[in-house]
Amino acid sequence: MNTIEAVNSFLTRIKRSQRVVPKGDFVKVNFGSSLFVQEGWINVEGSLHSFFAKWPAIFPKVIYRFSRASDWYGTEDKYLRVLRTNTFIHHDLDYGLPFTDNSVDFLYASHILEHFYPDVAAHILKDAYRVLKKGGRIRICVPDLRHAVDVYLSGQTERALKWFFKSSRPGKFYHHKYMYDFELLKSKLEMAGFTSIERCTYQQGKVPDIEKLDNRPEETLYVEAVKGAEAPCVAIDAGSRSQMAHATEYSQHPS
Ligand SMILES: C[S@@+](CC[C@H](N)C(=O)[O-])C[C@H]1O[C@@H](n2cnc3c(N)ncnc32)[C@H](O)[C@@H]1O
Repeated sequence: MNTIEAVNSFLTRIKRSQRVVPKGDFVKVNFGSSLFVQEGWINVEGSLHSFFAKWPAIFPKVIYRFSRASDWYGTEDKYLRVLRTNTFIHHDLDYGLPFTDNSVDFLYASHILEHFYPDVAAHILKDAYRVLKKGGRIRICVPDLRHAVDVYLSGQTERALKWFFKSSRPGKFYHHKYMYDFELLKSKLEMAGFTSIERCTYQQGKVPDIEKLDNRPEETLYVEAVKGAEAPCVAIDAGSRSQMAHATEYSQHPS
């Protein structure tokens, strides 16, 4: 573990039991968001980018320079703008989701579940169920194990292996620890309590803003599921949903 990771690990550890109360009627949470975010969402991210999001500019600028942020997030100006204009909660998802029970309408998780060992992922899915309101909906996007196997069987060994094994980049946040096909993910969602589990496709589903949030269509398995009976709000068409009042403010729950 390098120094930056040790500091981050310490910071997330002392906040591991944080619980925030989202304010507003229409709460959308993107967890493991990185800086790939959309207006109106609360983003949960464990890297130091999110920790320094609202600090004086010098701090995120230092992080930008000393991390590989330019490879992923474009220019320093763009990086700062994304951090400044969006809502981030700095939190390590190993500790679950930092929200009070039944407080979230929509959860979006793209290319994050494969970053956890299966027992931790099962715990996160249970916690996702806990924080969703009744009728709330989750969308999970992960690299598709079946697609990776098909690519392997077609003779493209290295291309297939890249879905399992990442680069030598240090840091616990950057490595894959498991893979899913639809049946496996469905059974994990069922074990967490979810119903109406459906395989979706790229930018197709009932979670708002997926036309902007979904990425990597070729390799990704998209799945949506519901907590209990579907809430009336998800039956509204996508255009109207993205115009509904956004809840991006929150307060700390006294714990
Ligand atoms: C592959 S990126 C996915 C980013 C984005 N959701 C997307 O679809 O492209 C995974 C992100 O999850 C974050 N992450 C990984 N493990 C985490 C953890 N234990 N707690 C919080 N964030 C984590 C990483 O820092 C990284 O930004």
